[in-house]
Amino acid sequence: MAKRDLAAELLRELGQDRTQYHSGEELSVRLGVSRTAVWKAACRLREQGYAIESVTRLGYRLTALPDGMTKELLEQYLPQGRGETVICYEETDSTNTRGMQLALEGAPTGTVVLADRQTHGNGRLGRSFASPAGQGVYLSYLLRPDFDPAALSLLTSCAGLAVCQVLEQHGLAPAIKWPNDIILDRRKVCGILTSDAESGTINGAVIGIGVNVTQQPQDFPEELRDKAISVREAGAAVPRAAIAAGIITRLDDLFLRQHILSQPAENLIGELTRRSCTIGRRVEVISPTGQYEALAVAIAPDAGLIVELPDGSRRTVSSGEVSVRGLLGYT
Ligand code: BTN
Repeated sequence: MAKRDLAAELLRELGQDRTQYHSGEELSVRLGVSRTAVWKAACRLREQGYAIESVTRLGYRLTALPDGMTKELLEQYLPQGRGETVICYEETDSTNTRGMQLALEGAPTGTVVLADRQTHGNGRLGRSFASPAGQGVYLSYLLRPDFDPAALSLLTSCAGLAVCQVLEQHGLAPAIKWPNDIILDRRKVCGILTSDAESGTINGAVIGIGVNVTQQPQDFPEELRDKAISVREAGAAVPRAAIAAGIITRLDDLFLRQHILSQPAENLIGELTRRSCTIGRRVEVISPTGQYEALAVAIAPDAGLIVELPDGSRRTVSSGEVSVRGLLGYT
């Protein structure tokens, strides 16, 4: 039997209403332990960085949360019960790799894997994604079963939209560099990597999202300093768990409530176009078949990029990468 974590249980009780005091007597009855045990659990939470007031005859009140990436902390920002299908690692190789494994084991849609640190964070096109402890959100969201691989670009775009909406709630003005980089102040704050998991009859997709949250410029490798930015550097001091929970909630809303993938794509494409920092700009397309210059003109219904070539002809780019003049060091 799993060992009881009274501190986590107390945190859940106090987190249900952070405006009120919760009497020690009431808490001891609800948790089925002595008042001394409640007091000891409160001390343990304080050691973990939670600020808990205790006032004679009134009880305990949770007044501030630490920055961290634990399930208990995340639950403070998520709707009640949502934490049940969230798995939080202090360290793992890659949350996408864990997510794939869970998909193959039959984990339900909406399962989320998070880590405080990744030892082998994967980026697009075989690159690695630096994932130091205490500085970012590294999150994978599982969707299954039965995915049309053609919908993968739409999934990635939905994730980009979700991240933008969360950053906007915190007063920032992010833009999307097609297909899946989120940009603040001309630098990259978030990257997205969607992979499909397929084995026998089990199909699924894992959307991996990496957000730079607390880094200062000197925390990025030298070669990335003019290309990378964190949420904090952009001017918003937001706890990582709040950003992670915000993204999970937005993704739930898009996929599980709005069923965005079975809706006409116009709304989504409109939202993406409104936030695009690629449309209307000169770009260099780096595709599997070669490299060429073009003008980015629109987002296609399948989330591909419609570009216009110097001879006036148009084509849709659906995989590969574009460099946008004036962004991420491309001049
Ligand atoms: C990119 O910009 O190239 C994509 C980066 C994607 C990084 C995230 S972090 C969480 C998830 N796990 C991974 O290994 N990669 C994605």
